[in-house]
Amino acid sequence: MGKVTKLKLAVLISGGGSNLQAILDACKSADYPAEVVLVFSNQTDAGGLTRGRDAGIRSEAISHKGYPGGREAYDAAVSALIEESGADLVVLAGYLRLVSESFVTRWKDKLINIHPSLLPSFKGLHVHQAALDAGVKFAGCTVHYVVPEVDSGPIIAQAVVPVLPGDDAGKLAQRILRQEHKIYPQVIRWIAEGRVSVDAKGIVTIADAKPAEMAELNPVLEPG
Ligand code: GRF
Repeated sequence: MGKVTKLKLAVLISGGGSNLQAILDACKSADYPAEVVLVFSNQTDAGGLTRGRDAGIRSEAISHKGYPGGREAYDAAVSALIEESGADLVVLAGYLRLVSESFVTRWKDKLINIHPSLLPSFKGLHVHQAALDAGVKFAGCTVHYVVPEVDSGPIIAQAVVPVLPGDDAGKLAQRILRQEHKIYPQVIRWIAEGRVSVDAKGIVTIADAKPAEMAELNPVLEPG
């Protein structure tokens, strides 16, 4: 059997990188159609950099603090690194930094993000507390293509979790993270398999989505 070409990923992080780890774990399967070629952080001490290095992947950081030329120049340097890595898809995984419009344009249709709410509800920061404060009974996470407006852009997948009595922001965040770790590798698989399309209205369709596959992400759905 010939060597299968895998989708090359650049994963951008700022913190612990548990989503990065979920992606790295998925990539360990021989039949997973993607591989991480670059881990990048704007925080030089991000824990996720160690995860990347432990996996033998080029893992680099450039601090944004005091970067000469500001956001545009910084993002141009990040783009140059990504280009050099040969990545086909840029995966924001807890990258806690606004990206410039030119970065979004450069990576149009090749830039995805994960956000720990059911968008379009609860954009921005401190979303777990915001969900609790709003009294919603279900929360969750969203993977979406990135557009210039923050936490907007075509929604590729969402997973739902219940809000339970006694929840605080930390408990809810942990429950949502467990779903994040499922949907992010799954979305990357769909993109690598060429199954994700976006129509003129920004509605995403997953070609040939199996009910069982969707139910695995969202246990509230019937598998049949
Ligand atoms: C996740 O909740 C993600 O949705 C948000 O930042 C968090 C990153 O967590 N954008 P980790 O670094 O992947 O553990």
